[in-house]
Amino acid sequence: MTPVDDSARIAAFEARIAAGETIEPKDWMPERYRKQLVRMMSQHAHSEVVGMLPEGNWITRAPSLRRKISLLAKVQDEAGHGLYIYCGTETLGVDRDDLIGQLLAGTAKYSSIFNYPTLTWADMGAIGWLVDGAAIVNQTALAKASYGPYARAMIRICKEENFHKRQGYEIMATLAAGTSAQKEMAQDALNRWWWPSLMMFGPSDKDSPNSAELLRWKVKQKGNDELRQRFINLTVPQATAIGLTLPDPALRQNAESGDWITGPIDWAEFMQVISGNGPMNRERLAARNKAHDEGAWVRDAAEAYAAKHAARRVA
Ligand SMILES: [Fe+2]
Ligand SMILES: [Fe+2]
Repeated sequence: MTPVDDSARIAAFEARIAAGETIEPKDWMPERYRKQLVRMMSQHAHSEVVGMLPEGNWITRAPSLRRKISLLAKVQDEAGHGLYIYCGTETLGVDRDDLIGQLLAGTAKYSSIFNYPTLTWADMGAIGWLVDGAAIVNQTALAKASYGPYARAMIRICKEENFHKRQGYEIMATLAAGTSAQKEMAQDALNRWWWPSLMMFGPSDKDSPNSAELLRWKVKQKGNDELRQRFINLTVPQATAIGLTLPDPALRQNAESGDWITGPIDWAEFMQVISGNGPMNRERLAARNKAHDEGAWVRDAAEAYAAKHAARRVA
């Protein structure tokens, strides 16, 4: 039997993708596809985990028991999302410990949005509404990704994200309908989170080094700009409905397409944040490292327990 050369394998792989088939862990895939998936999925998993920090910070300060329960459940869900996606990444032959090591050492990327501070309770509303709202738009597209384990993780995650978005929007709606100080607090949170949430979709596709390849292999189904536009179109009427104003004097609706067109996004700020110089990058990494160190006894106990049971099975 003659070995199949790589170009024939790549052609067969791309034909499967074009036919809308799902690629599974044991299927042959180009090394570059595997690398891109590991990069993207690990960044996504890291974002879920680091994303717990800005909100975890407010659990003890929630204004009522109901709000505390919702926020606690949401933050706990994010840990679960990190876990599913790390597990998905392991199907590509990488070790979760290595990925977590990269996060803790500061050599891995995660979503730029989590490097902004949470200054008031209204930020819990703005994050749920905008950040989880943007994540839903992104992740709904990823639920059709060509790699099976990633796509399936997204389906479950999106269901939970809907709850996250609703609890956030409800916080904003309640504050916006409250006293003038409460409404101001909601407006201030919207002013601070609006632009960073638009940056979450990443740079324009023409400036995004990985977009073309990810789209061709259907890891991504839609480009960054198209997803961002969808999010803007969904969010503008939601802001209007609760009497808040988007912090963009240039915002206008295109009469023909119905699209809401924003003013320019400050990509220089985005580049600063993803290169480690955002307002909270250092604090987030320090907090993540501290939590990891403090959890060492849990990992040790779990390993000891597993070893004890393995020894019993052998006996
Ligand atoms: Fe999540
Ligand atoms: Fe979420």
